[in-house]
Amino acid sequence: MTAHYMKSAPPTRTDTEDETDQLEKSWFIRLSGHDPIAGGGESQVFARPGKSSQLIKVHNTQHVEHLAASRSLKNRLRRWRGIGPYKTLLRLNRAYLDAVLKAAELGRPPPIAHQRGVLLTDLGLGVVVQKIRGEDGELAVTVAKLHRRGRVDSDLVTALTRFAGEMSAFHIIGNDLNPHNLVYETRHGRSRIVLVEGYGSRNLIPFRRWSRRVNDKSLSRRFQALAAWLDLTWDEGSWSFSQKDSEPGRSSSA
Ligand SMILES: Nc1ncnc2c1ncn2[C@@H]1O[C@H](COP(=O)(O)OP(=O)(O)OP(=O)(O)O)[C@@H](O)[C@H]1O
Ligand SMILES: [Mg+2]
Repeated sequence: MTAHYMKSAPPTRTDTEDETDQLEKSWFIRLSGHDPIAGGGESQVFARPGKSSQLIKVHNTQHVEHLAASRSLKNRLRRWRGIGPYKTLLRLNRAYLDAVLKAAELGRPPPIAHQRGVLLTDLGLGVVVQKIRGEDGELAVTVAKLHRRGRVDSDLVTALTRFAGEMSAFHIIGNDLNPHNLVYETRHGRSRIVLVEGYGSRNLIPFRRWSRRVNDKSLSRRFQALAAWLDLTWDEGSWSFSQKDSEPGRSSSA
């Protein structure tokens, strides 16, 4: 399209500028040829080309596009109800919307990575998210990795306790609070735990969404499991994590 408007040769440009330009003009993002910077069981995570503060997650199972194109009654019904990655996407977006509205009320950011919409990529539907970073500006380390490195220290325990408090205050429905989904954000000398996926109501009747008390009960069960994973103690009464040899609640006041 631009060629029609160009009367003379454009000034010399760098490859990166050209690439960025092209990406902005294309209605989908080309990811093939880029190496994923992380990945789990379900998706590949790419740096968003030209936007260092964002990531693009592409599901390994490309059912979404297949489902969207299918005309069979069965698939149309499944689409209407929302299944598989499609359902996950709807669930995440709804939960994100709730969290952002709560953020407006509380005046602070939610303990989850910001969702930035969806984009088509040549590898399939991509979910754009805020890139949570560590001190060096690179991808933040997961709590699982910190545990593996033997770095579950009192600072991390304090951050986990604060995270637990925020999950409750923001009324976030945590489903999969495993340490691979929790990353340690470090910015301007302040650290916090951020949940990157595994939240949002999965139930047809969303009791947890309706009642904070019900949600807290199931959050507490998940924090208990997380504590066991990390060799820590979870105390529901003081809503805090602590090292096994110290008293519950101590870590939050450290
Ligand atoms: N917003 C983010 N900021 C920083 N790192 C992230 C972010 N999202 C994902 N990651 C990194 O990518 C990894 C995989 O991401 P994610 O958990 O979303 O994918 P997944 O394939 O669904 O994983 P699984 O299903 O195995 O839990 C995470 O463990 C984390 O290291
Ligand atoms: Mg994960």
